[in-house]
Amino acid sequence: MLVIEGARDIYGQVINLKLENDSDEYIDASQLTILPAVIDPHVHFRVPGMEYKEDWRTGAKAAICGGCTMVFDMPNTKPPTFTAIQLADKKALIDSQLQEVGIPLHYQLFFGADKHHLHEIATVQNQVVGIKVFMGCSTGNLVIDDDESLHAVFEIAAKLNMLVAVHAEDETLIKARKQNFHGAADYADHSTLRNEEVACVAVEKAISLTRQYGTRLYVLHMSTADEVELIRKAKKDNLPVFAETTPHHLFLDTTHYARLYGKAVVNPPLRDSKHHAALWQAIKDGVIDTIGSDHAPHTLEEKNQTYGACPSGMPGIEFMLPLLLNASHHGRISLAQIVSLTSARAKHIFQIQSHSDYVLVDLNRTDIVSHTVSKCGWSSYEGMQLTGWPIYTVLGSRCYQVSAGVNGTNVRIFMDGFYREAY
Ligand code: DOR
Ligand code: ZN
Repeated sequence: MLVIEGARDIYGQVINLKLENDSDEYIDASQLTILPAVIDPHVHFRVPGMEYKEDWRTGAKAAICGGCTMVFDMPNTKPPTFTAIQLADKKALIDSQLQEVGIPLHYQLFFGADKHHLHEIATVQNQVVGIKVFMGCSTGNLVIDDDESLHAVFEIAAKLNMLVAVHAEDETLIKARKQNFHGAADYADHSTLRNEEVACVAVEKAISLTRQYGTRLYVLHMSTADEVELIRKAKKDNLPVFAETTPHHLFLDTTHYARLYGKAVVNPPLRDSKHHAALWQAIKDGVIDTIGSDHAPHTLEEKNQTYGACPSGMPGIEFMLPLLLNASHHGRISLAQIVSLTSARAKHIFQIQSHSDYVLVDLNRTDIVSHTVSKCGWSSYEGMQLTGWPIYTVLGSRCYQVSAGVNGTNVRIFMDGFYREAY
């Protein structure tokens, strides 16, 4: 049995854990704070077809290092996941990769909406966490860019009581803006080409479809003040609408192209920092429900290509919680709001039955982001100094030590555990 004693929850109450496993260890956690483990509702772990960027062996380790024990994976794989057979094949691959590394990470899958395969949706009704609709093209070729198919998806989902998660960027507008762009575009032009309006028009459309059909709607990666106002209004109207933002939209902005070049290219794009205040306010007001890492790794070789060839997306799952804890250290957000964003709201929205994993964090530990276990091997946050780090991630009866012990000493590897070697 592994006994973890003395950690305090966000209300100051001492929580002792007794994990039924083969180890015979005692951890004094009296310097640590215990939080529910992170649920990340938005990852791209790249299986099948793009395992050279990430797979579930490395993705699961990255999740555990980020204090996360449950992820929802997206369908823009190769091939995309839009048939029942593809879904079953994908699950089999994931299960075998997780077994290989001995990490029983909890996961759910989103089903891809494809206009030629809408009849498949009903066949997976109880096997997926929701239907993912790309309203604009991003990585891969999944897209629903015609109104007829979009209406059909919302109608089918409502009938089946399934949730629709939208990548809300309007494809028609993106195409028009690209056509009207003169000269050679550079990385930073990405934020102009896929501007705020591109996102707002799509969010407005998705909300109007929910108003029409009553579909449960989850707006992914919200990045602008205007989207926040659309969601605020929809919630006021009692529509079943939920919203997510990402670490990169909260902690990065368009000035970061100068430092990150292609690594900063992501869909929806980084915005002017003036949007940050609206996103933080929306978190406080409960207009933004969740944070999803949108962990979308690409290799450095791919990201170093010139604009146009450089794919969109960045990894994020390992540093989402440290970034939030650091924001809390600086008074930007409370620990209660972090719990709400990283697990409580997701449990409610996605109707997760039982989930009692934990992450034990050291709120006073300061470290520099310097090492990543994601297969892509880089992070946009490299070099940032953050205060507040996960130390142990508890998944069922397993306990993973994910960074060195309190005060940077005392590195031990527990049963089934590993730690970031750089620490
Ligand atoms: O930047 C992005 N990358 N946005 C997406 O919608 C997809 C993701 C990916 O899969 O690379
Ligand atoms: Zn995504």
